[in-house]
Amino acid sequence: MSETIDPRARHQELVQQIEEHRARYYGEDAPIISDAAYDALESELRDLEAAHPELAEPDSPTQTVGAARGETGFASVQHRERMMSLDNAFSIQEVDAWLERLARELGAQEVVCEPKIDGLSISLTYENGTLVRGVTRGDGTTGEDVTANVRTMGDIPDTLSGDNIPELVEIRGEVYLPLAAFEELNERMVAEGKPPYANPRNTAAGSLRQKDSTVTASRPLALTAYALGALEWGAQGADARAESQAGIYEVLAGWGLPVSEHTRVLTGVDHIERFLKELEEKRHSMVHEIDGAVMKVNSRSVQGQLGSTSRAPRWALAYKFPPEEVHTTLEDIRVDVGRTGRVTPYGVMTPITVAGSTVTYATLHNRHEVKRKGVLIGDSVVLRKAGDVIPEIVGPVVAARDGSEREWTMPEGCPSCGTTLVEQKEGDKDLRCPNSQYCPAQITDRIAFIGSRGALDVEVLGEKAAVALVEAGVLSNEAGLFSLTEGDLARVPLFTLESDSTKDGVDRKAGDVSTNGLRLLENLNSAKEQPLWRVIVSLSMRHVGPTASRALATAFESIPAIREATEEQLSAVDGVGPTIADSVKRWFEVDWHRDIVDRWAQAGVRMQDERDESIARTLEGLTIVATGSLEGFTRDSVKEAIISRGGKAAGSVSKKTDYVVAGANAGSKAAKAEELGVPVISEAEFVRLMAEGSL
Ligand code: IVH
Repeated sequence: MSETIDPRARHQELVQQIEEHRARYYGEDAPIISDAAYDALESELRDLEAAHPELAEPDSPTQTVGAARGETGFASVQHRERMMSLDNAFSIQEVDAWLERLARELGAQEVVCEPKIDGLSISLTYENGTLVRGVTRGDGTTGEDVTANVRTMGDIPDTLSGDNIPELVEIRGEVYLPLAAFEELNERMVAEGKPPYANPRNTAAGSLRQKDSTVTASRPLALTAYALGALEWGAQGADARAESQAGIYEVLAGWGLPVSEHTRVLTGVDHIERFLKELEEKRHSMVHEIDGAVMKVNSRSVQGQLGSTSRAPRWALAYKFPPEEVHTTLEDIRVDVGRTGRVTPYGVMTPITVAGSTVTYATLHNRHEVKRKGVLIGDSVVLRKAGDVIPEIVGPVVAARDGSEREWTMPEGCPSCGTTLVEQKEGDKDLRCPNSQYCPAQITDRIAFIGSRGALDVEVLGEKAAVALVEAGVLSNEAGLFSLTEGDLARVPLFTLESDSTKDGVDRKAGDVSTNGLRLLENLNSAKEQPLWRVIVSLSMRHVGPTASRALATAFESIPAIREATEEQLSAVDGVGPTIADSVKRWFEVDWHRDIVDRWAQAGVRMQDERDESIARTLEGLTIVATGSLEGFTRDSVKEAIISRGGKAAGSVSKKTDYVVAGANAGSKAAKAEELGVPVISEAEFVRLMAEGSL
């Protein structure tokens, strides 16, 4: 902060902003800034108060927890023991500093490490083992009485089990909506034409604060218990008291409350750092969202020694993962024409870093999605990039609008060739440019696609090369691709030398085909030998991706056979079905499509496959999904291995899946398999399965 800013004025400004954002976060309104931006405001306030201690009043947000009190419609209940918040660390360095200070002051400590669940905290009061009250955190001192709603939750027992039952206990934990339930709920909302919920945390909060408990009951809310509040044993033995944090979890579990299965007791910076990294890797395969980890000193007597500040215990620390949701400005919405003529709107944003990469563009899929998301040009938008997932515009921050935003409309003509866009079939979500034969964007995209790794894998043939070949007039579409000659390339500036040069002792003149151009010709030549299914993929028939192409190649073994097949024969193939059959049939009805095939055949592109009889069909009848990174296989080669042995390589896990092969960083698919009870096997077991046909 610059010295010219009056610290008192800035302090006031920050306090006001933080209070407003807190009211939204804990109330009914959706937040208007990201969690990360909120954390930054709190950090700035804390730094300011450290530099100017006279500004730190007892009611400053640095000293308080949660929402300011307001009229909510629920009865207010005072917690017997305050519900605290946690201090945050935003880097491993800050965690290390905390651990080192602990070790210096109190000797090496065991630390309980556990996930920081992104839900809302609850306090459950049990008297002589019977649930009497459930209260939200509120401002930490007083919360809202949501007992009726809490009673509908399957995870919360009406009575505690076991015989170590205190006279009175406040049990603290996090209520959350499991991710799978959140997704299902949103699918239902969209199907009913209602706007989807923003995120699981907000939805859980809304569900718990329902006036009508039958609504709460319809949402499968879950609980993880992680702390005790007030505790009175009465006449029962004092020996039932837990001496460690881990001991508290055992007691809680003994009473029948769910505790986290990811909790570990660790000592030393190295072990703890490893835990944090591993947890971050598991982040997207857990049943609930987590936004970090919580570390707690294990010994309760040391906890007592350390005590608490007014808002957070000194014996615990939250480590927050880097944010996956940020806010940025949607500067424009533009449209792109793909190789199948599909016209896709996409957002152009003020570039922003999220989950480690800079994002400027994000697809908006189709005009209905733009409507459904309700985004306007000029909006502040929530941008989400979870792990390896493609960045997504979640929605607008409506409360941040100032009236200058404007609605976007889908253009009527193709942005590349101007042809009027159409729905291919009535009711299609997508609009398409029907001019597939001549639309320059579609032609260059199809040519570049042939070069892509999923198709014929021609290294030099990318977007730039495709555009250059078409612009120079040597290709009018993909039909002539495999008949290109050095003479053709000499007419393409991208593939010719700009000036005279000597390479490997050979003199070359300006205008000669460059090394890159010669490589393109070589690459195209070897691509002709690629397996049949890759040739089929390269034809860009609608709906015919790698899976359908493999199925067609396996069933018919040649392109002429596919061309001659009836629609019934096509749709009878496992993995093909009527939509694909119809698409294939129609594709071959078009003259210029047949011309592509004929010219490729003349140029020597593979038109038929022979089944490799030397491979035993050990996986006949088995449906297998491979996920995560495998050591000995690529994404394609593992599918090849499954199919060549008679198995079916599926992309998603269902009840019909026989095995899921999980490599490193296997994510949601492995989790789904476990949920459905589908066996998850290692790469080594998969190799054995291939060899022996069973495990
Ligand atoms: S312990 C006395 N453990 O994070 C310590 N809190 O940012 C009280 N939270 O208010 C909290 N997972 O709502 C604790 N494993 C966990 C947690 C957790 C999520 C929430 C809780 C707390 C907030 C602080």
